[in-house]
Amino acid sequence: MKVFITRTIPEIGIQLLQDAGLTVIQWKEKRNLTPQELIDNCKHCDALMKVGAIKIDSGFLEASRHLKVISLLSVGFDGVDLASATRLKIPVGNTPGVLNEATATAAFLLMIATSRKAFYMHKKIIRGEWGFFEPTADLGIELEGKTLGIWGLGRIGFEMAKKCVGAFNMKVIYTNRSKNEMAEKELHATQVSFDELLRLSDVLSVHTALTPETTGKMNKEAFNKMKPTSIFINAARGGIHNEKDLIEALQNKTIWGAGLDVTNPEPMEKDNALLNMPNACVLPHIGSATQQARDGMARIAAENIIAALRGERLKHVVNPEVYG
Ligand code: DGY
Repeated sequence: MKVFITRTIPEIGIQLLQDAGLTVIQWKEKRNLTPQELIDNCKHCDALMKVGAIKIDSGFLEASRHLKVISLLSVGFDGVDLASATRLKIPVGNTPGVLNEATATAAFLLMIATSRKAFYMHKKIIRGEWGFFEPTADLGIELEGKTLGIWGLGRIGFEMAKKCVGAFNMKVIYTNRSKNEMAEKELHATQVSFDELLRLSDVLSVHTALTPETTGKMNKEAFNKMKPTSIFINAARGGIHNEKDLIEALQNKTIWGAGLDVTNPEPMEKDNALLNMPNACVLPHIGSATQQARDGMARIAAENIIAALRGERLKHVVNPEVYG
C-alpha cells in the first residue's frame, strides 16, 4: 500500500511507515502542491499525510474518495472539509498532546518579548541605533501578578497558564466551552464570559480552534473592550484575529502590544506594519517547531495511517462519526 506525504517529515515517521510495509512517496519540492497535483499524486495511494497549509476541500475529497485515511501532521484541522470527509467515510487523524509544551512556550516567549519590546530593540541594534541612553525611552511593562486571560483552555492553554502562574504568579481567567476542573484546582483559574475575558485580561492569549464561530472574532469591537495596557497573544490560528483591526488597535493605543505566532494571512507580507511596531512581536508559525514536538507529530501521524490501513480505528481521530 502507498502513502503520499505533502512535505518532508521527520525520519521517525517515514521509518514507522516503511517498517509497516508501506511505500512512502514524499513531495520534496519547496512549494505547495496545486489542487490538481494533490489529486494526481493521491490517485494511486491508499493514504494521505497532509502537512502544511494545503486545503483538503470537497473537490479533492470527491476525487480522492478511495483514500482510507487522511492523517494530518497538526493538531488543528481547520484546513479540512470535515463534513465531506465524514460523508465519504474517510477518517481524519490529528496529532494532539505532543506539541503542547512547544506551542505554549512559543506563546510564553511572545508574551515576554512583547512586554519588553524585545524584537524591536533587537532590530534597533541591527540598524546601528543602540546609542544614547534615555531613561524614559522604550519602556516595557512588568507581568508579575497580572491577569492572564486564556481563550480556549485546552491542553496548550493549560501549559501556557501553568508557565505564567509559575513565572509571574499571574491570576488566570479563561473562556472555554466547558469548565476546566484541573485548571480551576491546580491553577485557581476562573471561568468568565468572553466579554469579561476581554475587559479583565492584562494578557489575553488565544488557544482556541479556528471555527466559523471564532473566525475574525478578535476584531475592532473586541479590541475596543480590552484594556489600553493589555497584550494580545495569538499562537492558535491567524484567522481568529482581524489583522487590519489589530494594527489599528495598536496604532491607536487601544491595546498596548501584540505577540503573534500566527498571522492572517500566512505567510505575512514583509511590509506588514506589525513588523516595525515597537510593541509587536511576530514569529512565522513556529509553535510546534521543536525536534521533540515534530518527532512526536510524525510518529502519531504515521501511527494513524498504519492503524487505518490495518482496518483499525485511529487513535486520534477528529471525525469519529465515520465509525458509526
Ligand atoms: C498545529 O498542529 O495545528 C500547528 O499549528 C502546526 O504547526
